[in-house]
Amino acid sequence: MVKVTAPPADGLAPPPGGSASPQLGDDHPRSSRVLSGITPSGSLTLGNYLGALRRFADGQPTHEGFFFVADLHAMTTAHDPKRLRDLSTETAALFFAAGLDPQYSTIFVQSQVTAHVELSYLLECTAHVGELGRMIQFKEKGRKPKTRASLFTYPCLMAADILLYDTDTVPVGGDQDQHVELCRDLAIRFNRSYGDTFVVPRLDRAALASRVADLADPTVKMSKSADSRAAGVIRMLDAPAAVTRKISRAVTDSESAVRYDPERKPGVSNLLDIIAVITGERPEVVAAGLSSYGELKRVCAAAVVETLTPIQRRYADLVAAPQELTALLSAGAERARAQAEPVLVRAKQAMGLAS
Ligand code: TYM
Repeated sequence: MVKVTAPPADGLAPPPGGSASPQLGDDHPRSSRVLSGITPSGSLTLGNYLGALRRFADGQPTHEGFFFVADLHAMTTAHDPKRLRDLSTETAALFFAAGLDPQYSTIFVQSQVTAHVELSYLLECTAHVGELGRMIQFKEKGRKPKTRASLFTYPCLMAADILLYDTDTVPVGGDQDQHVELCRDLAIRFNRSYGDTFVVPRLDRAALASRVADLADPTVKMSKSADSRAAGVIRMLDAPAAVTRKISRAVTDSESAVRYDPERKPGVSNLLDIIAVITGERPEVVAAGLSSYGELKRVCAAAVVETLTPIQRRYADLVAAPQELTALLSAGAERARAQAEPVLVRAKQAMGLAS
């Protein structure tokens, strides 16, 4: 059995027993292993990009990444098979268009790596009904007689997603804390019960834009599951005119001073956060350079359009060559399987199963 421990606080040391996976070039500057997924339950938003996808791409030169389209997670509520297939393809293409690079990262679709479902069941055999019942998603949408059982158990699938890759850090937006915390609890419990098996991962929440708010109602997060006509949700594939229109109509407040105050001025602060994360400035500094809400909205729209336009161009090229996209994803799934399967075997053996 391998000896596994939590990564050090700075997250820069390789995981126990970990060397760069053989499929990556020997010159890959491997430090820590990063993993994250995005559920294809809607067309990706600016929130998904700033809170997650952009950070996946930015970390590539120094971190070995595993990034996947979490299609199995899109089936916990009623779903349409064709829409799921289309959104999975769109999401995968956006991963590459946003800069994920197979030279550094393993990019794949979750359902093509069956170990996720297998380990999920093993983790269901360690999770408690009480802790799954406390998950916010389940509390909000569950508890009806026809709720899918998977809405209750999917936090175990998410834990499996993470633990299968000896993950050190999980970059996510602010709404995923509870899930990553549960994953850590399950890993620690498993290791105590059955011997050291899993690396205990760490959450890596965005310092800025960890919760990009809906432009029409800045008290709620911008969500890809919102109605496709929602005025407050910017999609990564929105045309520049739509982006500009949505931002120009963003809810602000009855004052006129551009000031960063997320508590009292959530609409204005949301726009400042968006500009700040794109430009790399602090939101207070951005605010100091702007004299009116009109100027704030113009600067924000220009920054978002400038960010999304090159991604949209690369996206168009990718979807124009669907066989190439399929080939990239098959190669990614193969690499992912090579990493995940030995970890699954480790877990099965630890639990007393024939493997
Ligand atoms: P999902 O698909 O809801 O969101 C994908 C990522 O985008 C982040 N995010 C946001 N960040 C900032 N502002 C927003 N408005 C915003 N909306 C979403 C999310 O925090 C997330 O990082 N269950 C997960 C997917 C998943 C996963 C995993 C993630 C499956 N397995 C393993 C990490 C590790 C989900 O549905 O995320």
